Amino acid sequence: MKASTSSTVPVNAVPPAAGQIRSSRIAPHSHIKGLGLNAEGYAAGDAAGFIGQEAAREACGVVVDLIKSRKFSGRALLLAGAPGTGKTALALAVSHELGAKVPFCPMVGSEVYSTEVKKTEVLAEVFRRAIGLRIKETKEVYEGELTELTPTETENPLSGYGKTVSHVVIGLKTVKGTKQLRLDPAIYEAILKEKIVVGDVVYIEANTGAVKRVGRSDAYASSYDLESETYVPLPKGDVHKRKELVQDVTLGDLDAANARPQGGQDIMSVMGSLVRGGRSEITDKLRREVERVVKGYVDQGIAEVVPGVVFIDEVHMLDIECFTYLNGLLESPMSPTVIFATNRGRCTVRGTDDIVSAHGIPSDLLDRCLIVKTETYTRDQVGKVVQLRASVEGLQLGPGVLEKLAEEGERGSLRYALQLLTPASILAHLGGRKQIELQDVGEMNELFLDAKTSAKRIGEDGGFDGSR
Ligand SMILES: Nc1ncnc2c1ncn2[C@@H]1O[C@H](COP(=O)(O)OP(=O)(O)O)[C@@H](O)[C@H]1O
Ligand SMILES: [Mg+2]
Repeated sequence: MKASTSSTVPVNAVPPAAGQIRSSRIAPHSHIKGLGLNAEGYAAGDAAGFIGQEAAREACGVVVDLIKSRKFSGRALLLAGAPGTGKTALALAVSHELGAKVPFCPMVGSEVYSTEVKKTEVLAEVFRRAIGLRIKETKEVYEGELTELTPTETENPLSGYGKTVSHVVIGLKTVKGTKQLRLDPAIYEAILKEKIVVGDVVYIEANTGAVKRVGRSDAYASSYDLESETYVPLPKGDVHKRKELVQDVTLGDLDAANARPQGGQDIMSVMGSLVRGGRSEITDKLRREVERVVKGYVDQGIAEVVPGVVFIDEVHMLDIECFTYLNGLLESPMSPTVIFATNRGRCTVRGTDDIVSAHGIPSDLLDRCLIVKTETYTRDQVGKVVQLRASVEGLQLGPGVLEKLAEEGERGSLRYALQLLTPASILAHLGGRKQIELQDVGEMNELFLDAKTSAKRIGEDGGFDGSR
């Protein structure tokens, strides 16, 4: 019964059968695992999901080394190149190279223009979100590979029809042994929410009942080269144990939590929190206070600061005020690594009428930047990226499709070729075909224009020319 109250678990919400593939999240850069450099720092061919772009990858590798040896403070990396040449992908790869769980905070230059929040405030907030804090705590947990998940149902006392889960029995396995636990239905809901299935390695905090999925047990590892799943070994030791848990938060999280404390049950505070729901500014005083507390934690050895990466795309959209403010942010001792990207050559700096500068960045900030240029791709390289994306998205390509898309990519851009992939797969699906055929791509090409073709079709007067 679907219309049951929120506290009951729908009867049909049985967990999917073991072995069923978890639906993987498809993000445009999920195939990028790093810069793919060898031990000497050279980009030897295609690696870590990165195709070509050797010079830029090697340059970024040097920057990663500088950051790791703490010689990059007060500076920034600027990626310059045409759209769809992998600037965002490079920035993401740099953050992967800096280590797992390094916060990556992307933003677009134009995000600073808000009617509610000051431009500088938006920048400050992004910088705060890019400073991670790893907090270590020792907690009592039950950990292991899930071997059994059996909800027990009883008649729902509130309605005559539905059933509710009275308790759930789970089995957890470690290298040392197995244990069966009888759990509260609330934990079962948490298990469903985390989409945990048999074969996953999980832990449950003993005193809060919080359920966390660590990954899939490596006994279930598949032979794909690229996958979004993380495989973890069977946990050692007992199922019930004390475990050091690591929690990752950012300074931005702490600021926000302190700026809007959850308080009061009376109607006024409830209403107040509804109205205040939007973005509110965080004062500098609060920031300093948070920093002071964090410093205390770091001194006690409970927490560790993890500087992350701020990525500002379309940096030429910032204005002179923002650029000046950025100079200050870069100098501050707790600054994350900053990466800019732009596809502009010389243009006027926004907010001024006469200062023309390379990439639309004032020369004092440009002076702080290491500039890396990205090159456009050859047909061959476009083909490889398309193939990579197709396999990550689980799409089959029929004969000739790859060549066709590579050709489109060379003529238009890599992004256009990648963008054709999904709609073409929908067409193929509608036609009842398992793989994308040439006709699907052809049809897409008739329906959509790439940027260059569209620009060409626009008439002399700047409007659409009816005859074409
Ligand atoms: N050298 C490369 N190897 C693999 N994939 C790439 C490469 N360059 C770009 N891509 C992919 O192509 C798409 C467009 O690249 P993106 O980084 O967004 O371009 P830009 O930011 O320069 O406009 C993304 O899905 C990206 O992951
Ligand atoms: Mg981009």
